[in-house]
Amino acid sequence: MTPAMTTIAPHDPALDALWMPFTANKAFKARPRMLVGAKDMHYTSDDGRQILDGTAGLWCVNAGHCRPPIIEAITKAAQTLDFAPGFQMGHPASFALAQALKGILPAGFDQVFFSNSGSEAVDSALKIALAYHIARGQPQRTRFIGRERGYHGVGFGGISVGGIATNKTTFKAQLLPQVDHIPHTHDPARNAYSKGMPAHGAELADGLEAMVAKYGGETIAAVIVEPVAGSTGVLIPPVGYLERLRRICDAHGILLIYDEVITGFGRLGSAFAAQHFGVMPDMITLAKGITNAAVPMGATAVKGSIYDAVVQATEKGIEFFHGYTYSGHPLAAAAGLATLKLYADEGLFARAAAMAPAWEAAVHSLRGARHVIDVRNIGLVAGIELEPRAGAPAMRAFDAFVSAFFDEGVLIRTTGDIVALSPPLIISEAQIGELIGKVRRAVERQM
Ligand SMILES: Cc1ncc(COP(=O)(O)O)c(C=O)c1O
Repeated sequence: MTPAMTTIAPHDPALDALWMPFTANKAFKARPRMLVGAKDMHYTSDDGRQILDGTAGLWCVNAGHCRPPIIEAITKAAQTLDFAPGFQMGHPASFALAQALKGILPAGFDQVFFSNSGSEAVDSALKIALAYHIARGQPQRTRFIGRERGYHGVGFGGISVGGIATNKTTFKAQLLPQVDHIPHTHDPARNAYSKGMPAHGAELADGLEAMVAKYGGETIAAVIVEPVAGSTGVLIPPVGYLERLRRICDAHGILLIYDEVITGFGRLGSAFAAQHFGVMPDMITLAKGITNAAVPMGATAVKGSIYDAVVQATEKGIEFFHGYTYSGHPLAAAAGLATLKLYADEGLFARAAAMAPAWEAAVHSLRGARHVIDVRNIGLVAGIELEPRAGAPAMRAFDAFVSAFFDEGVLIRTTGDIVALSPPLIISEAQIGELIGKVRRAVERQM
């Protein structure tokens, strides 16, 4: 196992020096939860415990932790070409990774634009949508449509099209203009305890027709949705919903963007959710599992027709004024190539599909557990919704998360009163049983 690194003592000034992201800083610093190592399905905590990873880190370590082929590829890249400018210069690994991604993307996704995170992948997609419409002589298409409860990262673009209120409230004075949202698809009254896609709610896609009626379809540049909404607590698209969204987009010349930052790279048992659901978007945003999270990277995959339109519209010079210093960074590209090879060598996407029935049975065994009011699942993802504590929303799930870590030795993720599980795709059936047993105890222990 990984040797425990020196940790941060409870009163070390370093604890105060870090402003932690999306964290209750004061509570964390009063009782830190510190990880110092990781291997395969486990983290090591600073007190030397093995912590079963029920969330693939943050939905991203799909092949399990510290996998040697990825470590070796990053090491070699760092020793060979530490950095190469991506503007007006290139290096082979970023082209090779784009080509390798094409090999697993749906047909017609011919180009990939690299960034460093999901948030940047989303911003890139929104900019590409505007550039595409201008290139095709439709500059009036400037409006974006997101979905309530959607999560698209934390850039101003992402929070504007996103639909999670807490992420926007502080910044609401400066969000992107010309953005609106269609309804979310969560409908526990009709769909509680669904296995896989819920039966009810395809008609919610007609929210897009309402936007067309309100603004005029010819003003809408793009619609962005997570095929399965992850961060808001695992909302799976109802049967027929994505098809309906696609049809409305087609009828009005609107681009459909899938944000597959979570659903990409095998999470549902196919390379991407687009293939899993058999409904194709025009752009796909990626991050997380693209490098197994070993080096930060984001990517926006586009249909060849989008790239062609934008690139052909400019006769000479730079066609698209956008990019990041670290777009296609050599270490990220090396990690991405090694990661895609590992996924293929070990057949991890098919493995996820093969494990999905055992996963479904295990997570639905929580039906009837104390506090549980819904369980939903698809691929190797599950959402377990708890009854909120009166007057203290989100606290029951948060306390379960803390108890899961300290008392059960398992990492889970909670959002509101929902426990979201998304283990590495290498999880065994025995580990699924262990994970769900620990989750049950952590939840049932709560007031
Ligand atoms: C669907 C989706 N889009 C975008 C993001 C943002 O990614 P990042 O945190 O890498 O910026 C996330 C992160 O969880 C996500 O789930």
